[in-house]
Amino acid sequence: MAATKLLLADLASNLKQVPAKYIQPISDRPNLADVEISELSSIPLIDLEGLDGPRRSEIINQIAQACELHGFFQVKNHGVPEEMINGILRLAREFFRLPESQRLENYSDDPAKTTRLSTSFNVKTEKFSNWRDFLRLHCYPVQDYIHEWPTNPPFFREDVAEYCSRIRGLVLKLVEAISESLGLGGDYINKVLGKHGQHMAFNYYPPCPEPELTYGLPGHTDPNLITVLLQDDVPGLQVLRNGKWVAVNPIPNTFIINIGDQMQVISNDKYKSVVHRAVVNSERERISIPTFYCPSLDAVIGPAHRPSVYRNFSYGEYYSKFWSRSSLTAQACLDMFKA
Ligand code: OGA
Ligand code: NI
Repeated sequence: MAATKLLLADLASNLKQVPAKYIQPISDRPNLADVEISELSSIPLIDLEGLDGPRRSEIINQIAQACELHGFFQVKNHGVPEEMINGILRLAREFFRLPESQRLENYSDDPAKTTRLSTSFNVKTEKFSNWRDFLRLHCYPVQDYIHEWPTNPPFFREDVAEYCSRIRGLVLKLVEAISESLGLGGDYINKVLGKHGQHMAFNYYPPCPEPELTYGLPGHTDPNLITVLLQDDVPGLQVLRNGKWVAVNPIPNTFIINIGDQMQVISNDKYKSVVHRAVVNSERERISIPTFYCPSLDAVIGPAHRPSVYRNFSYGEYYSKFWSRSSLTAQACLDMFKA
């Protein structure tokens, strides 16, 4: 029976209408006709070729501009092989096509679990549901978590571990560049992160019969330090810019990088954790794979420069506030940590 399905994917395939709990109030709907399509000039595409060589200062300037003006940029020549990108997208697609009973082995609605398949955002606290299923994994240090991960499709653990390690390498380079761009030592932010943390999600957005009524994910900022998003070839990501939603349409072999709340705090509001959302469409399923790079829970976060806009706090405190809110769109989490 449809009403007893835990996962959206198993419910959505036969629906001609969006069930009531997915329908946003009229004032909060996506208004898809009123969205700008990203020109390259609005969300910068930065070529990382030469970051460790002759183009270093030029690229760091581009990153600084992007972090200050947009909170978002895209990167090419990032060093992650094309086969690995295609492979991880294929693996995600295969995972969400596994029989329901197999996928459900990983199901949990407890946000504290470090490996889990779930749906929407937080089914325990939220009022409206989102048009999304997701598999969320903690992935650094990998040996602490890999034994919890799914074993199906075959090679899931091996392939995901390899992807995580490559993405971590990219993140560490970006974090060093961003640290320098703030006039801090190259290893300043790396040290603030304590033992470091890395989470990832495999987001699955089924086709939706009435995409104007609901979201894959409503407008939110990411609570972590920096996010590296891989999206497949189906549009859906939108970024809020000057009060207007801008679609960031897929470019093959490109990652989307966005500044998270912790980077906004460390930079003392110089770099912006910008509101973004995922919308759905009636034609095609969409997959996105964000990596959320973060401090360890015991790391103490605060602005690097005075006068501080924020008080010092542990990332653990921030993270539990983030997940305990009644929805992703509730009061901005950052506002609760102002000095
Ligand atoms: C997220 C997110 C965007 C997307 O998972 O935090 O913003 O396009 N995802 O799926
Ligand atoms: Ni996000």
